[in-house]
Amino acid sequence: MPRMPPGCLMAEFRHETARLILRDWREEDWAEFWEGTNTSEVMRWLGGVLDETGCAAARRRLESYARDHGHTFWVVERREDGAVLGFCGLKRCNQKGGPTGMMEIGWRLRREAWGHGYAKEAALASLALAFERFGADEVIALTVQGNEGSWGLMRRLGMRRRSDLDFANADFDPETGMIIVYSIDLREWGRVDG
Ligand SMILES: CC(C)(COP(=O)(O)OP(=O)(O)OC[C@H]1O[C@@H](n2cnc3c(N)ncnc32)[C@H](O)[C@@H]1OP(=O)(O)O)[C@@H](O)C(=O)NCCC(=O)NCCS
Repeated sequence: MPRMPPGCLMAEFRHETARLILRDWREEDWAEFWEGTNTSEVMRWLGGVLDETGCAAARRRLESYARDHGHTFWVVERREDGAVLGFCGLKRCNQKGGPTGMMEIGWRLRREAWGHGYAKEAALASLALAFERFGADEVIALTVQGNEGSWGLMRRLGMRRRSDLDFANADFDPETGMIIVYSIDLREWGRVDG
Protein backbone atom coordinates (compact mmCIF):
# COMPACT_ATOMS: atom_id res chain seq x y z
CA MET A 1 0.00 0.00 0.00
CA PRO A 2 1.48 3.43 -0.88
CA ARG A 3 2.50 5.78 1.89
CA MET A 4 -0.35 8.24 2.58
CA PRO A 5 0.31 11.97 2.20
CA PRO A 6 0.58 13.86 5.50
CA GLY A 7 -2.77 14.83 6.96
CA CYS A 8 -4.57 12.08 5.09
CA LEU A 9 -6.64 9.89 7.41
CA MET A 10 -6.59 6.15 6.85
CA ALA A 11 -9.48 3.95 7.94
CA GLU A 12 -8.65 1.75 10.93
CA PHE A 13 -7.59 -1.75 9.91
CA ARG A 14 -9.95 -4.35 11.39
CA HIS A 15 -10.37 -8.03 10.63
CA GLU A 16 -12.53 -10.50 12.55
CA THR A 17 -12.06 -14.24 13.04
CA ALA A 18 -14.29 -16.64 14.98
CA ARG A 19 -12.98 -15.52 18.38
CA LEU A 20 -10.67 -12.58 17.69
CA ILE A 21 -10.34 -9.13 16.17
CA LEU A 22 -7.07 -8.08 14.53
CA ARG A 23 -6.96 -4.30 14.38
CA ASP A 24 -4.81 -1.18 14.43
CA TRP A 25 -3.39 0.06 17.70
CA ARG A 26 -5.20 2.67 19.79
CA GLU A 27 -3.72 4.79 22.55
CA GLU A 28 -5.56 2.85 25.25
CA ASP A 29 -4.22 -0.55 24.09
CA TRP A 30 -0.62 0.01 25.07
CA ALA A 31 -0.88 -0.13 28.87
CA GLU A 32 -2.87 -3.39 28.73
CA PHE A 33 -0.52 -4.83 26.11
CA TRP A 34 2.65 -4.14 28.12
CA GLU A 35 1.05 -5.28 31.38
CA GLY A 36 0.13 -8.63 29.81
CA THR A 37 3.16 -9.28 27.65
CA ASN A 38 6.20 -7.48 29.07
CA THR A 39 6.93 -10.34 31.43
CA SER A 40 9.98 -12.57 31.73
CA GLU A 41 8.04 -15.60 30.48
CA VAL A 42 6.60 -13.95 27.35
CA MET A 43 9.85 -12.07 26.59
CA ARG A 44 12.12 -15.03 27.31
CA TRP A 45 13.22 -15.43 23.67
CA LEU A 46 12.77 -11.78 22.72
CA GLY A 47 15.69 -10.23 24.56
CA GLY A 48 14.00 -10.12 28.00
CA VAL A 49 11.68 -7.60 29.66
CA LEU A 50 11.85 -4.15 28.02
CA ASP A 51 12.51 -0.95 29.92
CA GLU A 52 10.54 2.23 29.22
CA THR A 53 12.82 3.25 26.35
CA GLY A 54 12.52 -0.20 24.78
CA CYS A 55 8.71 -0.13 25.02
CA ALA A 56 8.56 3.33 23.44
CA ALA A 57 10.83 2.24 20.59
CA ALA A 58 8.79 -0.92 19.98
CA ARG A 59 5.59 1.13 19.92
CA ARG A 60 7.10 3.57 17.42
CA ARG A 61 8.16 0.70 15.17
CA LEU A 62 4.74 -0.99 15.20
CA GLU A 63 3.00 2.32 14.47
CA SER A 64 5.41 3.11 11.65
CA TYR A 65 4.78 -0.25 9.92
CA ALA A 66 1.04 0.49 9.81
CA ARG A 67 1.72 3.97 8.41
CA ASP A 68 4.28 2.86 5.84
CA HIS A 69 2.81 -0.45 4.66
CA GLY A 70 -0.85 -0.56 5.77
CA HIS A 71 -0.11 -3.62 7.91
CA THR A 72 1.69 -4.24 11.17
CA PHE A 73 1.71 -6.67 14.05
CA TRP A 74 -1.90 -5.81 14.89
CA VAL A 75 -3.61 -5.84 18.27
CA VAL A 76 -5.25 -9.21 18.96
CA GLU A 77 -8.46 -8.46 20.81
CA ARG A 78 -10.71 -11.24 22.14
CA ARG A 79 -14.25 -10.67 20.88
CA GLU A 80 -15.90 -12.21 23.92
CA ASP A 81 -14.62 -9.67 26.45
CA GLY A 82 -12.54 -7.09 24.56
CA ALA A 83 -9.30 -8.23 26.27
CA VAL A 84 -6.03 -7.32 24.54
CA LEU A 85 -4.36 -10.73 24.22
CA GLY A 86 -1.25 -9.44 22.42
CA PHE A 87 -0.29 -8.94 18.82
CA CYS A 88 -0.14 -10.90 15.60
CA GLY A 89 0.27 -9.73 12.05
CA LEU A 90 2.54 -8.72 9.22
CA LYS A 91 5.55 -6.51 8.75
CA ARG A 92 8.45 -6.28 6.30
CA CYS A 93 11.52 -8.02 7.61
CA ASN A 94 13.93 -5.45 9.02
CA GLN A 95 16.04 -7.58 11.35
CA LYS A 96 19.73 -6.81 11.23
CA GLY A 97 21.41 -9.34 8.90
CA GLY A 98 18.07 -10.80 7.73
CA PRO A 99 16.19 -11.04 4.42
CA THR A 100 15.20 -7.37 4.42
CA GLY A 101 11.85 -6.47 2.91
CA MET A 102 10.30 -9.94 2.82
CA MET A 103 6.76 -10.22 4.21
CA GLU A 104 7.11 -11.45 7.79
CA ILE A 105 4.49 -12.82 10.17
CA GLY A 106 4.90 -12.48 13.93
CA TRP A 107 3.03 -13.05 17.21
CA ARG A 108 3.23 -12.40 20.93
CA LEU A 109 0.41 -13.28 23.33
CA ARG A 110 0.01 -12.85 27.08
CA ARG A 111 0.72 -16.04 29.03
CA GLU A 112 -2.89 -16.77 30.01
CA ALA A 113 -3.82 -16.75 26.31
CA TRP A 114 -1.42 -19.55 25.36
CA GLY A 115 -2.80 -23.04 24.80
CA HIS A 116 -6.20 -21.99 23.41
CA GLY A 117 -5.38 -21.92 19.72
CA TYR A 118 -5.65 -18.11 19.63
CA ALA A 119 -2.19 -17.66 18.12
CA LYS A 120 -2.93 -20.15 15.35
CA GLU A 121 -6.29 -18.52 14.65
CA ALA A 122 -4.73 -15.05 14.43
CA ALA A 123 -1.80 -16.34 12.37
CA LEU A 124 -4.01 -18.15 9.83
CA ALA A 125 -5.98 -14.92 9.38
CA SER A 126 -2.74 -12.96 8.97
CA LEU A 127 -1.44 -15.39 6.34
CA ALA A 128 -4.73 -15.15 4.44
CA LEU A 129 -4.43 -11.36 4.54
CA ALA A 130 -0.80 -11.50 3.39
CA PHE A 131 -1.64 -13.60 0.33
CA GLU A 132 -5.11 -12.30 -0.48
CA ARG A 133 -4.99 -8.62 0.45
CA PHE A 134 -1.37 -7.53 0.64
CA GLY A 135 -0.11 -9.36 -2.44
CA ALA A 136 2.58 -11.52 -0.82
CA ASP A 137 3.93 -14.46 -2.76
CA GLU A 138 5.86 -15.75 0.26
CA VAL A 139 5.71 -15.10 4.01
CA ILE A 140 8.56 -15.79 6.41
CA ALA A 141 8.67 -16.13 10.19
CA LEU A 142 11.73 -15.65 12.37
CA THR A 143 12.58 -17.19 15.69
CA VAL A 144 15.41 -18.80 17.64
CA GLN A 145 16.07 -22.49 18.14
CA GLY A 146 15.06 -22.45 21.81
CA ASN A 147 11.65 -20.91 21.15
CA GLU A 148 9.79 -24.14 20.65
CA GLY A 149 6.38 -22.46 21.19
CA SER A 150 7.03 -20.20 18.24
CA TRP A 151 8.57 -22.65 15.76
CA GLY A 152 5.96 -25.22 16.83
CA LEU A 153 3.30 -22.76 15.69
CA MET A 154 5.18 -22.19 12.41
CA ARG A 155 5.04 -25.92 11.75
CA ARG A 156 1.36 -26.15 12.71
CA LEU A 157 0.70 -23.43 10.16
CA GLY A 158 2.30 -25.50 7.40
CA MET A 159 5.45 -23.36 7.26
CA ARG A 160 8.66 -24.97 6.11
CA ARG A 161 12.11 -24.63 7.69
CA ARG A 162 14.36 -22.48 5.49
CA SER A 163 17.85 -22.92 6.91
CA ASP A 164 19.18 -21.27 3.72
CA LEU A 165 17.67 -18.00 5.06
CA ASP A 166 18.99 -18.31 8.65
CA PHE A 167 21.24 -15.43 9.67
CA ALA A 168 23.66 -14.36 12.36
CA ASN A 169 22.02 -12.04 14.90
CA ALA A 170 22.54 -12.33 18.65
CA ASP A 171 19.78 -9.89 19.72
CA PHE A 172 17.44 -12.65 20.93
CA ASP A 173 19.67 -15.63 21.63
CA PRO A 174 23.26 -14.73 22.46
CA GLU A 175 24.02 -18.41 22.98
CA THR A 176 23.48 -19.51 19.37
CA GLY A 177 23.82 -16.00 17.91
CA MET A 178 21.44 -17.12 15.17
CA ILE A 179 17.93 -16.34 13.98
CA ILE A 180 16.20 -19.23 12.23
CA VAL A 181 13.66 -18.87 9.43
CA TYR A 182 10.49 -20.66 8.33
CA SER A 183 8.44 -19.78 5.27
CA ILE A 184 5.30 -20.52 3.31
CA ASP A 185 4.60 -19.55 -0.29
CA LEU A 186 1.36 -19.01 -2.14
CA ARG A 187 1.30 -22.53 -3.57
CA GLU A 188 1.87 -24.12 -0.15
CA TRP A 189 -0.74 -21.79 1.38
CA GLY A 190 -3.29 -23.14 -1.12
CA ARG A 191 -2.81 -26.58 0.43
CA VAL A 192 -3.17 -25.47 4.07
CA ASP A 193 -6.29 -26.77 5.74
CA GLY A 194 -6.77 -24.31 8.64
C1 LIG B 1 4.36 -18.43 20.29
C2 LIG B 1 3.00 -18.33 20.95
C3 LIG B 1 2.19 -17.19 20.34
C4 LIG B 1 2.28 -19.69 20.73
O1 LIG B 1 1.03 -19.71 21.40
P1 LIG B 1 0.18 -21.07 21.56
O2 LIG B 1 -0.99 -20.74 22.39
O3 LIG B 1 1.09 -22.17 22.02
O4 LIG B 1 -0.21 -21.42 20.05
P2 LIG B 1 -1.57 -21.93 19.41
O5 LIG B 1 -2.54 -20.85 19.23
O6 LIG B 1 -1.21 -22.69 18.18
O7 LIG B 1 -2.18 -22.92 20.47
C5 LIG B 1 -1.79 -24.25 20.49
C6 LIG B 1 -2.27 -24.92 21.76
O8 LIG B 1 -3.63 -24.57 22.03
C7 LIG B 1 -4.40 -25.78 22.20
N1 LIG B 1 -5.80 -25.46 21.86
C8 LIG B 1 -6.78 -25.32 22.78
N2 LIG B 1 -7.93 -24.98 22.19
C9 LIG B 1 -7.67 -24.87 20.86
C10 LIG B 1 -8.46 -24.52 19.73
N3 LIG B 1 -9.75 -24.19 19.84
N4 LIG B 1 -7.86 -24.49 18.52
C11 LIG B 1 -6.57 -24.80 18.38
N5 LIG B 1 -5.76 -25.14 19.42
C12 LIG B 1 -6.32 -25.17 20.65
C13 LIG B 1 -3.69 -26.78 21.34
O9 LIG B 1 -4.00 -28.09 21.71
C14 LIG B 1 -2.25 -26.43 21.65
O10 LIG B 1 -1.90 -26.87 22.94
P3 LIG B 1 -0.47 -27.50 23.28
O11 LIG B 1 0.55 -26.40 23.04
O12 LIG B 1 -0.59 -27.89 24.71
O13 LIG B 1 -0.30 -28.64 22.34
C15 LIG B 1 3.14 -18.06 22.47
O14 LIG B 1 3.89 -19.11 23.03
C16 LIG B 1 3.82 -16.73 22.79
O15 LIG B 1 3.20 -15.66 22.77
N6 LIG B 1 5.13 -16.77 23.15
C17 LIG B 1 5.86 -15.59 23.63
C18 LIG B 1 6.18 -14.58 22.58
C19 LIG B 1 7.09 -15.13 21.51
O16 LIG B 1 8.06 -15.81 21.79
N7 LIG B 1 6.74 -14.82 20.27
C20 LIG B 1 7.45 -15.34 19.12
C21 LIG B 1 8.70 -14.65 18.85
S1 LIG B 1 9.58 -15.42 17.52
